[in-house]
Amino acid sequence: MKSIYLIIFILIVFTNFVHSRWIPRKENINICDKLDEYVISLYSEEQFLNYSDVKACYELTPYNKTKAIQVIEAIKENLKGFYALLDQAKEEQNPGFALRPIDLISELDLVLKNNYSYEFQFIYDVADLINELRDGHTWLNSDNYHKYNFQQGLSMYSVIRKDGTQQIKVFNDTKEPNNIDCQVIYIDDKPAIDVITEFARNHTYWSRDLSARFNSALASLAFGNGDFFIAGQLFTSRNQLPKNPSISYTLNCNGKISKITREWQVPIYDVQYKSPYINGASVGKATLIFDAFIARFYILQDFGVVLISTEDILNGDSDLEYHFLSDIAIGFKLLADRGIEKIILDLSNNGGGQIFAADYINKLLFPNIQKFPVDYKVNNISIPFIKETAKTKRGTGIFHYKSFISAKTNCPFDSVNDFVGNNIYTRGGVQVRYTSKAFRNDTTLYSGNFKFQIPPKLPWTEKDIIILTNGICLSSCAIITQRLAEINVPTIAVGGFPNTRFSFAQYAVGGASSTAEIKPIFNQLKNLDSSLVSKLSLPENLTLYFTLAEAYSIKNPNEVMDYAFRPADYQLYYDERSARDPSQLWIKAAKFFRK
Ligand SMILES: *[C@@H]1O[C@H](CO)[C@@H](O)[C@H](O)[C@H]1NC(C)=O
Ligand SMILES: *[C@@H]1O[C@H](CO)[C@@H](O)[C@H](O)[C@H]1NC(C)=O
Ligand SMILES: *[C@@H]1O[C@H](CO)[C@@H](O)[C@H](O)[C@H]1NC(C)=O
Ligand SMILES: *[C@@H]1O[C@H](CO)[C@@H](O)[C@H](O)[C@H]1NC(C)=O
Ligand SMILES: *[C@@H]1O[C@H](CO)[C@@H](O)[C@H](O)[C@H]1NC(C)=O
Ligand SMILES: *[C@@H]1O[C@H](CO)[C@@H](O)[C@H](O)[C@H]1NC(C)=O
Ligand SMILES: *[C@@H]1O[C@H](CO)[C@@H](O)[C@H](O)[C@H]1NC(C)=O
Ligand SMILES: *[C@@H]1O[C@H](CO)[C@@H](O)[C@H](O)[C@H]1NC(C)=O
Repeated sequence: MKSIYLIIFILIVFTNFVHSRWIPRKENINICDKLDEYVISLYSEEQFLNYSDVKACYELTPYNKTKAIQVIEAIKENLKGFYALLDQAKEEQNPGFALRPIDLISELDLVLKNNYSYEFQFIYDVADLINELRDGHTWLNSDNYHKYNFQQGLSMYSVIRKDGTQQIKVFNDTKEPNNIDCQVIYIDDKPAIDVITEFARNHTYWSRDLSARFNSALASLAFGNGDFFIAGQLFTSRNQLPKNPSISYTLNCNGKISKITREWQVPIYDVQYKSPYINGASVGKATLIFDAFIARFYILQDFGVVLISTEDILNGDSDLEYHFLSDIAIGFKLLADRGIEKIILDLSNNGGGQIFAADYINKLLFPNIQKFPVDYKVNNISIPFIKETAKTKRGTGIFHYKSFISAKTNCPFDSVNDFVGNNIYTRGGVQVRYTSKAFRNDTTLYSGNFKFQIPPKLPWTEKDIIILTNGICLSSCAIITQRLAEINVPTIAVGGFPNTRFSFAQYAVGGASSTAEIKPIFNQLKNLDSSLVSKLSLPENLTLYFTLAEAYSIKNPNEVMDYAFRPADYQLYYDERSARDPSQLWIKAAKFFRK
């Protein structure tokens, strides 16, 4: 069974469609079919889909109010039943976050008061409203209207100059390479920084913290799928049909001012980015000593650097997953055997993955570390799932009380009622019921055949480790970094705005789920009320993702991690070189090792 704590790796936007079938041209072919044909056809001459064609395709489906009401009702029921943070989202939030209080249920109803011409406009409004939670686990995906990745062929980054001023520059331009490193002064005739900042504030949701969102709007290097790639760049790479067909950029290239206009296009083929400073095994002057695929181990000067991507590349194949985790233990042991006394953990642009992997890495480094306890919402929608699952022999993991260990007794729960508990908290001005606090029981949840070697004993303490991220360290990544920060491992966040310390990670939760994951459970639990099942069912091609279990701090036991503002201890900035050569950042980060 696919693991339940799998969190969608949202950083890589795949544009390489499968070129597998030749679809014969049909009579009366419509524009959408034509686009599909370009994408799938082996013989297609086209490099890009055009904005106007995709728009024409989307405009084939008119808005249907009856269907819209069904969509809104099903989303509301799922959120009320399962979304752990629904009520806390109504509260005034920490000023460190760029976040307004949001009563999602009432605001979803308001969407129905708008008039729309086309279905996609309605879907985008609902998706944007849910994104206003700025909760990376909670979002709406439409297979129909989030299908294409619109790009500009250009990406940007931000540097802080010696005089302290901030600039936007061209990171790469696949159409006109001469534009690389030119300053972007204006975007659509408005100051570039303001445009990117406002876009980050309104239209991105990979952090509650604006600085991290600003980073996500721009391009930066990420490690994943066994290599480096460009992540983020949400400003120039979008999965919703942009409002306008093009964007203009006013550039300053060594004093020469020019204005270019770029149409939005959907590339059919993927172009891989290659940094000039990353050469096979080495990054700048750092030498690779071990490659564990989801982690890489380098030595630079006299310290170690470990890149960690917790992504679930293996699609829940637990034996292979364990194999890679064993390799991570080997990598750390090699660093220890070489006498390395200080290590940097670089988790920049880590979009999450298996919570299990995060807990494993924490335990490897600090064998006595405790996990963040978690809980679920308890109400008349979730209770039937919890109670019916308890009756099944080998029930589905996410709702089964035997998947958890009581945080109070540190033993499995005696009964389902023991798990359900009787805990009422005030959140967003209302009384909300939650289960007993619990730890996930990894043995139950991840039952592979693979046996771990006994983990090596590693020499480092919290004084010898430093964490580096660009603020985009989500979900499982946050479980590593926020947990280690609670035992005083120092943290550095790179990028953001000048002299503005910001969150190094976000979304350390106890579990995320979706309507797609809940749906098969309807069939397994025969006694679920059929009216409940129909209330929760979304139309075909729409999936709602949500935070199912919230996690609590160990340091401040009543603080929900998702809403805890935890800025990094230190801040670094990108420059022209370090944006493309992470080893430059590692050298700067090493200056912060505790003496
Ligand atoms: C997109 O537009 C260009 C220029 O108008 C054209 O050459 C190209 O064939 C179009 N692509 C598609 C997929 O229609
Ligand atoms: C609108 O949606 C409803 C419910 O999905 C459907 O029954 C109805 O046929 C649709 N109306 C039109 C005009 O397509
Ligand atoms: C929506 O359309 C209806 C009927 O065409 C009209 O009465 C109403 O005022 C419109 N509402 C808005 C918010 O434009
Ligand atoms: C961003 O949101 C604010 C407040 O809702 C709004 O006034 C502004 O027009 C929005 N800007 C963009 C670029 O969407
Ligand atoms: C720009 O992108 C192209 C294609 O991805 C890549 O080959 C090239 O190395 C990049 N150039 C720079 C300077 O980043
Ligand atoms: C759940 O309880 C609410 C009131 O607390 C009620 O309005 C709703 O109909 C109930 N839902 C179900 C599925 O029983
Ligand atoms: C986890 O569950 C297994 C059975 O699935 C049980 O044997 C084990 O004791 C549990 N772990 C803890 C720490 O309670
Ligand atoms: C769902 O998506 C598929 C593939 O894009 C499409 O053929 C189908 O018509 C869609 N169904 C609905 C109800 O939108």
